[in-house]
Amino acid sequence: MNRPPPAPAIDPNEPKESHPFPAGGASFPGPNLVGSVPMASPKPPLVGGSWLFGAARDLQRDQLGTYGRALREHGGDLVRFRVGPPRVGIEFDTVFQPDAARQVLATDAACYDKAVPAFDEFRWVMGNGLITSDGDLWRRDRRIVAPLFTRRRVASHVGTMSLAAARLVSSWEDTARRGGQVDLQDSGMHYALDVLGQTVFGDDVERLVPVLRGTVPLLSDFAARRALSAVRVPHSWPTPANRRADRARRQLWGVVDELIANRRKAATAGDDLLGLLLTAHDPETGATLDDPAVRDQALTFLIAGHETTGTTLAFALSLLGRHDAEQERVREEVRTVVGDGDLAGTHLDGLRYTAQVVNEALRLFPSGHTIVRHAHQPASISGHEVPAGRVVAISVWGIHHNPDVWPNPEHFDPGRFDPSHHEGDPDSQGTRYAHLPFGGGPRGCIGQHLAMAELVVAVASVVRAFRLESAAAEPELDVAATLRPRGELLCRLRPV
Ligand code: HEM
Repeated sequence: MNRPPPAPAIDPNEPKESHPFPAGGASFPGPNLVGSVPMASPKPPLVGGSWLFGAARDLQRDQLGTYGRALREHGGDLVRFRVGPPRVGIEFDTVFQPDAARQVLATDAACYDKAVPAFDEFRWVMGNGLITSDGDLWRRDRRIVAPLFTRRRVASHVGTMSLAAARLVSSWEDTARRGGQVDLQDSGMHYALDVLGQTVFGDDVERLVPVLRGTVPLLSDFAARRALSAVRVPHSWPTPANRRADRARRQLWGVVDELIANRRKAATAGDDLLGLLLTAHDPETGATLDDPAVRDQALTFLIAGHETTGTTLAFALSLLGRHDAEQERVREEVRTVVGDGDLAGTHLDGLRYTAQVVNEALRLFPSGHTIVRHAHQPASISGHEVPAGRVVAISVWGIHHNPDVWPNPEHFDPGRFDPSHHEGDPDSQGTRYAHLPFGGGPRGCIGQHLAMAELVVAVASVVRAFRLESAAAEPELDVAATLRPRGELLCRLRPV
C-alpha cells in the first residue's frame, strides 16, 4: 500500500497559490530520498548509446523508453546524454529526481535561462510572450500578467467553462444513445480552444472561431516539429510548410491586431483576458503593455493552454473509461456537490475527488513532459557540476514515473492526492517537485488554476452525463512538444 502523500512544501520561490486544488506532494517511500542526496562525483553517469551517434537514435525512436532505461540502469538524480559523435556532438543533462528539479527551477533558477533553439521556434509563432521571454522583460511582464490568473479571476470564468462543457456533452448525446465511440483527443482539443477563445477574447470570439480553428493547431504543430528537428530550414525559404505557416501566422496576428485596435477605440476594454491585458500595469513601475506585447501575451495563452489542456482532458477521461470504480466515485461526487444544475465556481472546492483524478492523469501523462533550461553560468545539481552553456532537461515524465518517488508508478490511483493524507506529515523541501505537471519556481505555469478549473468542470460534466468505456487498455503515446496520444483516443459512451 502506498504511504500517504505529504503536503506540498512551501517553496519561497514559488508564486503564492501554487497549487490550484489538492495537488502536489508525492509518496516518498522513506528517508532514502528526502534530504539524503548522496555524495556525488562531479560528473553524472553518461548514457552511451552508439559510439558514433551517442543516444541520438534511441532518443529519437523512443524518448520515454530511453529515459526509463537510463533511470533503471543509472538511478540517481541526474544522467548525462551525448547526442552525436564524441567531442563534436552535444551533451545535455537530464533530471529524474524532485530535489534536483527544485534546484534547477527554484533555488538556483537565477543560473538558468531559456536560450535554447526550441524557444526561438515558439517565438516565431507567438511573439515574445511569457513562455519565450527572459530576464527583465519577462520579470516585468510576469508582474503585469499575474493578477489576471488569480483564483478569484479564474472563478469568474467558470460560467464560460460550464457552457463549453455543456456544448461538448450535447455534441456527444446522439453517439451515446447509439452506444457509439468518440475520439477523446479531438473533442478535448475542441473544448480547450472553445474555453480559451472565450476567456481570452470574450464576445469577439464568434468572429475568431474559424480563424482560431484554422490556425492555432497548425501553428502549434509547426513550431513543435521544428523545435524537435535537428535540421531547420530558415523561415524565409518558400517550402510548402513554411508558406502554410506564414499564411496562418499572418491571418491570426492580423485578426488579433484588428481586435486590439477596436478595443482601444471602445469605451471600455472589457473584462476578458484581452481587455484586462490592455489595462494591466506593472505594480512596481506602472508600465503597461503596448499593442504588439498584448498580442504576444494573448497568443501565448492560446498556444500554451490549448494542446496541454485538451490532451489532459482526453487522458483523464480515457483513464476513467478504464477504471469503473473511480468513474463511479466521480459521478457520485458530482451528484452530491452539483446535482443536476449548472456547474458554478462555488462547486469547485467540493469537487475534490474529481481534481484528484485530474492530478493523477497529469502525473501519469504530463503534457509538459520535459522542461528545458540553459545554464548561462556554472551551476551544480545534487553535487554534480553543470558547466556554463549546458542544456538541462527536467524529465517531468521521468520524475512522475520514478519508482523511488512514486510507489507502483504505473498504477492509476487518484487516492495519492487525497488531501486528508497530508495532515501531520513531516514534509520536507523538495516534495512539491515530485508532482510538477505545471513546472515550478518563478517560471511555473501561470495558467494552472485556469487549466485545473477547466479540466475539473469538463470531467465532472462528462461523467455526470455518460458512462465511459475506453477502447484501448493503454494509449499509445506520441512524444512531441507535448505528450499526447498517438492518433485517436477512442471511448464508447452510454447515457447514464
Ligand atoms: C493542463 C494544462 C497545462 C499544462 C500541463 C501546462 C504546463 C506548463 C509548464 C510545465 C510550464 C513551465 C514551462 C517552463 O518552465 O519552461 C508552463 C508555463 C506556462 N504556461 Fe502552462 N500549462 C497548462 C495550461 C496553461 C494555460 C491554460 C495557460 C494560459 C491560459 C498557460 C500559460 C502558460 C504560460 C504563460 C507559461 C509561462 C510562464 C512563465 O514563464 O512566466 N498554461 N505551463
